[in-house]
Amino acid sequence: MTEARPWWQTGVIYQVYPRSFQDSDGDGVGDLEGVRQRLDYLVWLGVDALWLSPFYPSPMADFGYDVADYCGVDPLFGDLDAFDRLVADAHARGLRLILDWVPNHSSDRHPWFEESRRSRDSPKRDWYVWRDLGPDGALPNNWLSAFGGPAWTLDEATGQVYLHSFLKEQPDLNWRSPALREAMLDTLRFWMARGVDGFRIDVAHHVLKDPALRDNPPNPAPSGGHKPASLYDAQLHVHDKDHPDAHALYREVRTVVDGFDDRERVTLGEIHLPNALDRWAAYYGGPDLDEIHMPLNFGLLDVEWSADGLRRHVEAVEAAVPEGAWPNYVLGNHDERRLATRLGPERARLAALLLLTLRGTPTLYYGDELGVPDVAVPADRIRDPMGLRSGIPALGRDSGRTPMAWDASPSAGFSTAPPDTLWLPLHAEAERLNVSVQRDDPESLLSLYRSLLALRRRRPALYAGRYTALGETPASVFAFERQSGTDRVVVVLNLGDAPMPFTSDRRILSTHPVPSRNGGLRPWEGLVVEGAP
Ligand code: NOJ
Repeated sequence: MTEARPWWQTGVIYQVYPRSFQDSDGDGVGDLEGVRQRLDYLVWLGVDALWLSPFYPSPMADFGYDVADYCGVDPLFGDLDAFDRLVADAHARGLRLILDWVPNHSSDRHPWFEESRRSRDSPKRDWYVWRDLGPDGALPNNWLSAFGGPAWTLDEATGQVYLHSFLKEQPDLNWRSPALREAMLDTLRFWMARGVDGFRIDVAHHVLKDPALRDNPPNPAPSGGHKPASLYDAQLHVHDKDHPDAHALYREVRTVVDGFDDRERVTLGEIHLPNALDRWAAYYGGPDLDEIHMPLNFGLLDVEWSADGLRRHVEAVEAAVPEGAWPNYVLGNHDERRLATRLGPERARLAALLLLTLRGTPTLYYGDELGVPDVAVPADRIRDPMGLRSGIPALGRDSGRTPMAWDASPSAGFSTAPPDTLWLPLHAEAERLNVSVQRDDPESLLSLYRSLLALRRRRPALYAGRYTALGETPASVFAFERQSGTDRVVVVLNLGDAPMPFTSDRRILSTHPVPSRNGGLRPWEGLVVEGAP
């Protein structure tokens, strides 16, 4: 008996960064019509849903994460008609569409903020977080912007400072204002009425802060995790994010989303709390699971790629996810360095196999299925404010946001514009690492992804089954079983540089299409075999 589960548990999500997927009008920037034209690729690949990073009207200070209208489409990306065509065509192909919802901050050019900053008496003054300076001109507290500098900026005209957890062009919304709250929940209703299947909630745990605005304490062990540490990491962010009041808000969001109509929708929360899995898991909503359907799990970005490191991470996630809730795993996104560069081509194959065989919804980042590497963007083409303003160029995120490579033509089939006019440069190996070359090569990474996606779709053990770690393996081997009813598969991963003896006449799929001569596992080989009946 297969366990019946909602689509967002059994399916696979594919993240599209709209600026870089397909340019339909030759301006060097991707757009919604371009995404629509490429839907057949996503069906061919075998994913179930696409998550679109923001396409709303925006001055693009943070490439769309500075929203100037929550209910529109920036002309760069098309218009609402183009959006409606995209939803209709996605649904006609059985694909779901997830939007990025940015509730922590708007753009400083949003009419709400323009009204709010007009005067201290503005009816929308409390839609944002405004404070007086101290008598000596001191800021209200020591909070920092994640992009560098203080989290407060002075508005000369009204003499008060406003809070911005990110750029000064991204003022934080005040979710303690009932009117703001209702206006933002209406933006969810607007898109649900247009047929969307869910929302990825940007920095979901930032939305509410300590109402007393207490200082953050220093961090005794500053670390940027897998990224270079910045001044931001010198504080423990106990008062400017992950406030307990966020939970009531997400219960409300959940009621709005689940109660809208009969469509089964999902909410995904971008919640980075790497050293506090319990607080991360709390966003599922405790035993009632009444908050975010899936807080996104970024653990595989920080993990040590050893058998022990991976096993420990997966076990920790399995233990943290509440009873009845569903895990998920992320290997890359528009804020990270590219998977193929982080891990190298061989380990990237193993990572694909792991991601698509674990218990939990996988999220794929466009281009990772081709092994697209990080791009060393020349200084005069750097666009990301994170690299430009943090003072740490290595924090820049352009390198992982470059145009998708579809074929070996000069602009890789991404655009008719010449390559040197694309909004970001193509990756250097676009002639080889592109869809048209890899789709005909059974040994390519793309073919491996496609086979894994097809296998996951076929086997209830993989898309719905339980997870059990298998013990008594050599130190470099991580092995686990997935099982649903009578369907069982075993996954064996060699995370070492030496070959490993292994025999099975029940192989289903390997990262290396041709078995090694003695049948054992090659270094960094991953294998799926039939489980014992
Ligand atoms: C998280 C998004 O993923 C990132 O791209 C953005 O810069 C920040 N939130 C601010 O919105």
